[in-house]
Amino acid sequence: MTASTDARMEPVKIGSLTCTPLHPTFAAEVTGIDFSKPVSDEQIKDVIAAQERFGVTVYRNTALDDKRHVEFSRQLGELEHVPKFSGPKTVLRFAYTELFDAGNTDINGNIVQKGTRRWWYNKGNALWHTDSSFNQHRSKFSALLAHAVPKEGGNTNFADVRHAFRDMPEEKKAELRPLVLEHNLWHSRRVAAPDEYQAPTEYELAAKPPARHKLVQTAPDGGETLFIAAHAEYVVGWSKEDSQKLIWDLINYCTQPKYTLSLQWHQPGDLVIWDNRQTMHTATPFSDQMEVRDMRRTTVFDDGPFAWGVPEKPIDQIHEKPIDVPAVAVPA
Ligand code: OGA
Ligand code: MN
Repeated sequence: MTASTDARMEPVKIGSLTCTPLHPTFAAEVTGIDFSKPVSDEQIKDVIAAQERFGVTVYRNTALDDKRHVEFSRQLGELEHVPKFSGPKTVLRFAYTELFDAGNTDINGNIVQKGTRRWWYNKGNALWHTDSSFNQHRSKFSALLAHAVPKEGGNTNFADVRHAFRDMPEEKKAELRPLVLEHNLWHSRRVAAPDEYQAPTEYELAAKPPARHKLVQTAPDGGETLFIAAHAEYVVGWSKEDSQKLIWDLINYCTQPKYTLSLQWHQPGDLVIWDNRQTMHTATPFSDQMEVRDMRRTTVFDDGPFAWGVPEKPIDQIHEKPIDVPAVAVPA
């Protein structure tokens, strides 16, 4: 999976940033930002340009804390708030409602025990996905910051969906262009944990209804890409069986080794930003009952022309702001 070094892997300058490619078609490790100070608006433009060009950008050893992680993320756009799916009795782990808990500890920092609902929920992260595709207002960037990393394993793998789509034969692309997918968070939970999520609670279902987005979309560079994830349950108008066959054929196609990269987290402070509009990602195993992996994520709303997909009802009737009860933070 590790790409070899060749002429295309030379560092690229984007304004004040130096981007060293990690794969022949996407992803780069970026230097040139001093995270000990607020990042200037000028540099933010370079961050976004690097992001849109590479899809995945890696900033090592930033020493960011929660406050500065959130402040930096706000400079990239409006942030999602943590969805509150778990009912009124639980409380958030972090002071910022914009911080999703993508780690394996509970509110007290103890390891989440195998077999608990939260543990099963996290299983869904080990399917190839793009964050928040189950929201009618989709997200463009995710910024995941490591606070504690395991000694071994726990890489995050990424796929260059944009490049994979562009390699498809023209007839296949033409077949896919008219299709709309229905994404449902509870579908991906059920795929990953069939018994636990056989019947999501009424509260969960009401808190997160499905959302619809076109399958073939325009990437930031103006070319075409796919918007696909394990959250996708139906091709609108198709049977479940036919839908799942196409969706998983496409996910498997896009995640062939030549389109993927396995990203190792080196230390606390490593920050990885990915573009949910043109990549997919997946968590990978580590000894999650022995070691703490503390990862915190901000998620930036898409503000482009495809942000609201193809909703079934007028967007002013869609309520996707956090439901007003305290609840435990869960990643997606
Ligand atoms: C996420 C996610 C994967 C990981 O935070 O959205 O999917 O490796 N994380 O933690
Ligand atoms: Mn994710």
